[in-house]
Amino acid sequence: MRNLSGAVIGSAASGAALVVLARKPNTPRVLRWALWGCASLGAVVTANELNGKPVPFLRWSVLRMMLGRRRLVTEWQVGDGREEALAKHVMTHARQGDLDDVIRVIDDFCYQRSAMMNVGDEKGQILDQAVRRTQPRRLLELGTYCGYSALRMARVMRSDAHLYSIEFNPANAAIARRIWDHAGIGDRVTVIVGSLGDGGATLRRLHAEHGFTDGGLDFVFIDHDKAAYLPDLQRIVNECWLHPGSVVVADNVKFPGAPEYRTYLRDQEGTSWRTTEHWTHLEYQSLIRDLVLDSEYLGR
Ligand SMILES: C[S@@+](CC[C@H](N)C(=O)[O-])C[C@H]1O[C@@H](n2cnc3c(N)ncnc32)[C@H](O)[C@@H]1O
Repeated sequence: MRNLSGAVIGSAASGAALVVLARKPNTPRVLRWALWGCASLGAVVTANELNGKPVPFLRWSVLRMMLGRRRLVTEWQVGDGREEALAKHVMTHARQGDLDDVIRVIDDFCYQRSAMMNVGDEKGQILDQAVRRTQPRRLLELGTYCGYSALRMARVMRSDAHLYSIEFNPANAAIARRIWDHAGIGDRVTVIVGSLGDGGATLRRLHAEHGFTDGGLDFVFIDHDKAAYLPDLQRIVNECWLHPGSVVVADNVKFPGAPEYRTYLRDQEGTSWRTTEHWTHLEYQSLIRDLVLDSEYLGR
């Protein structure tokens, strides 16, 4: 059943504003306009949620995410428990050991219940194609969140490949592990709690505990803090882990945006990198455009 919390919140906002308007006819004009605005928005959100195929900006779950934007980019959870709710939903609705079913259930949850900052199904296909084309053995992801993109990569990577995913929020890392175990890929994907920008601790762990060595990294998916895209790419290059032919895919280059990263790759075009820009849409909607970069490393 669709989650009706958005409809309930929309009608509550609408109803409360109308009650105030009816009871206090002498309300100052600015406040009256604000109340009418609130009543209309609430009504539109309610109608939108009930119509079965909500428009993204009118979905309560999207508005909630936007309202909590500051928390979202510091703690990297929305703040209403949707990440934990997703894990529980997967455990109860997706067939255990069925990777396709787990991905399907997560996409349904995001379209119908709570939008989430996964790469999503549309951009996910660009990621799938890059992994299929490259046939990497060692993959690195920056930004695990609830493990959705890792599920997609695991589905298309070769059977002897291993994905290492870096996530600095331990709660997100724990949720991803539960979901991966449920999907049956827990032995092919490792989450490492940390950050490449933590002064060298995570870089050292990747080297000492996970065998990252010169030229041994075939594929990187960058999908974490947008301001860290370029510095973290440069850290990876400086470690000499890439080889000519390694591929780096980056999400959200247009929205929320990683302009320095894009400019750097444009400047390096044909010398150290060769990049293809894929225009697409932000996850789980078709109004906002986004850009995914697929860059092949040519060497120093
Ligand atoms: C957009 S989400 C990743 C979505 C995921 N790749 C997917 O498609 O399913 C970004 C994640 O990166 C993590 N993150 C943000 N900055 C980070 C950093 N500097 N190092 C490691 N993880 C980071 C956040 O905690 C968040 O879980």
